[in-house]
Amino acid sequence: MNNWLKSELLLLVGLLLLSGVSAKAWAVEILYPQDGTYVTKSNYLIVQGGGDPLLDGVMIEIDGVKSDFIDLSGEQYRSLYADKLVVEPLFDPGENTIVVEGYLQGEVVASSTASIYFLADVTKAPPTNYRKEVFHQAAREEVCAACHNMQPSKVQLQDPTTNNPCASCHARMLTKAHVHGPAGVYECSYCHDVESQPTKYELRLDAGALCLECHDEQNSMPLLHGPVEAGLCVACHDPHASDQPAQLITELNQSCLGCHEGLIGKPHVVSATSASNAHPLEGPENPRDPQEKLNCSSCHDPHGGQFKKYFVGEVKSAMALCAECHKK
Ligand code: HEC
Ligand code: HEC
Ligand code: HEC
Ligand code: HEC
Ligand code: HEC
Ligand code: HEC
Ligand code: HEC
Ligand code: HEC
Repeated sequence: MNNWLKSELLLLVGLLLLSGVSAKAWAVEILYPQDGTYVTKSNYLIVQGGGDPLLDGVMIEIDGVKSDFIDLSGEQYRSLYADKLVVEPLFDPGENTIVVEGYLQGEVVASSTASIYFLADVTKAPPTNYRKEVFHQAAREEVCAACHNMQPSKVQLQDPTTNNPCASCHARMLTKAHVHGPAGVYECSYCHDVESQPTKYELRLDAGALCLECHDEQNSMPLLHGPVEAGLCVACHDPHASDQPAQLITELNQSCLGCHEGLIGKPHVVSATSASNAHPLEGPENPRDPQEKLNCSSCHDPHGGQFKKYFVGEVKSAMALCAECHKK
């Protein structure tokens, strides 16, 4: 069940008098994500209201779950954000219906609906009946230019602090426990092409090739793990930040089992054991590295190795592996 409104994720960011909107013609518009598109992150829902006088506020409904009334009529709010509202929604994986109703003196005077698809697992094929949502196109950026720097200079883009022009909208993606080196110092333009057209900020190269420009040690082994060989670094790592060590997208064992589902519930390591006394794959500390808990990478190098099964420590066989932790 979608209970995004109970979470305290709602962040209010604004409503502005739109020039071009005739007096008393109220309208709410869902600026992002647009109707009929799919997104791979459930990070923003951006709404614009217009009319004269300005709407007092809105109610947002996602898949039948309604928010409280969001009051946009405060003076301070209006002066900062005018007619824009940015919230952080929690879409359910799959299809979502968004309804936004605009209120004036307790009455609904305008509403807007969008049907979008949240592709939570990027290793899965995108839906065929939704097109990919891309924000950075000239017509869409225009709407933001009154308050955000949408034509940053190369010099401004070198700023490693939150004064970097990308930060005014994207700083939130870096407020995680583990931040990737270049993203943390706003080297966004190292990976994202500032000159690509008609969509700005496309990747300069395929993700895998980009990663290897700085991390070529990750594919220098004689045998490469399937997704590493395919350049799918981002199947496991978030290029910007995450709450997991090494910016893993999910908890380590989980990220392996996403593809190796066949191992779930089966005894591993020592195949002769029954499921009930199977070898632990998580929980106790790793004898090879007491700082860490046991996990898949205690025994397998996630990137590859010299021998099949990619055992850690250049170990050739399962037998030799046991001795790494079970000293006689
Ligand atoms: C009337 C001024 C105004 C307009 C127009 C405007 N914004 Fe903003 N927006 C702000 C302010 C002020 C902030 C807060 C900036 C800060 O804290 O540094 C903000 C913050 C944001 C954030 C970050 C929210 C967060 O906390 O994560 C996003 C995303 C955003 N705006 C997107 C947009 C987009 C997209 C447009 C154009 C469709 C737009 N804004 C147009 C004033 C505006
Ligand atoms: C006005 C706010 C705003 C500013 C400033 C901004 N972005 Fe975005 N950007 C967005 C929103 C909103 C999205 C769509 C939601 C998302 O993917 O986070 C987006 C999406 C993107 C995407 C995904 C592709 C796309 O177009 O949807 C990339 C890449 C990106 N931004 C890079 C950048 C970089 C690099 C900068 C600085 C040069 C920057 N953005 C500045 C608001 C902004
Ligand atoms: C090391 C390279 C790299 C750097 C540095 C980088 N990005 Fe990205 N970015 C990527 C890749 C790769 C993707 C595509 C991710 C995917 O396909 O899963 C991406 C995707 C995005 C997206 C689309 C939504 C998402 O999260 O997938 C946004 C927004 C974005 N980048 C913004 C930024 C901003 C803002 C910065 C600077 C703070 C930045 N990026 C720095 C590599 C990078
Ligand atoms: C411009 C150079 C550059 C590019 C390109 C780059 N990285 Fe990095 N990466 C770094 C730096 C710098 C660090 C921080 C090194 C350190 O731990 O001090 C780092 C660290 C990492 C770490 C280790 C984090 C940790 O906690 O040990 C991972 C994982 C990683 N990068 C993955 C990627 C992936 C995936 C890509 C491609 C999307 C990529 N990197 C592209 C420079 C880069
Ligand atoms: C199958 C998932 C997976 C893929 C694909 C993957 N990694 Fe990793 N990577 C991991 C895990 C798990 C760790 C953490 C290892 C640990 O903590 O023992 C890691 C750690 C790292 C580190 C930190 C240094 C280290 O070796 O521990 C870097 C840098 C890195 N990966 C880069 C990359 C690059 C570049 C690619 C693509 C060529 C890539 N990874 C592909 C799972 C993956
Ligand atoms: C994106 C899908 C994907 C993810 C995620 C993934 N793997 Fe794999 N893995 C594969 C594929 C495909 C193969 C077969 C190709 C090969 O042998 O490398 C494979 C093979 C392996 C093998 C070698 C099997 C053999 O018979 O030699 C091991 C060991 C392995 N993976 C461990 C892991 C670990 C540990 C993780 C988590 C860090 C992980 N995998 C995450 C796709 C994945
Ligand atoms: C304590 C060491 C250890 C841990 C932890 C471990 N493995 Fe293994 N793994 C092995 C050994 C040993 C083999 C070889 C078994 C054989 O050859 O009979 C193996 C084999 C594999 C294979 C090859 C296919 C197969 O079933 O033989 C894959 C894939 C694999 N492991 C993935 C994982 C994943 C994913 C995790 C975490 C959930 C994990 N391993 C945790 C020791 C370990
Ligand atoms: C990365 C370290 C690691 C490797 C490699 C490893 N084990 Fe273990 N093993 C452990 C840990 C940790 C436990 C749990 C010990 C505890 O709970 O006190 C364990 C428990 C066991 C147990 C249960 C009895 C006991 O000592 O508690 C057996 C049997 C076992 N391992 C056999 C093996 C065999 C056979 C191999 C090689 C195929 C192997 N292990 C490889 C770390 C490892």
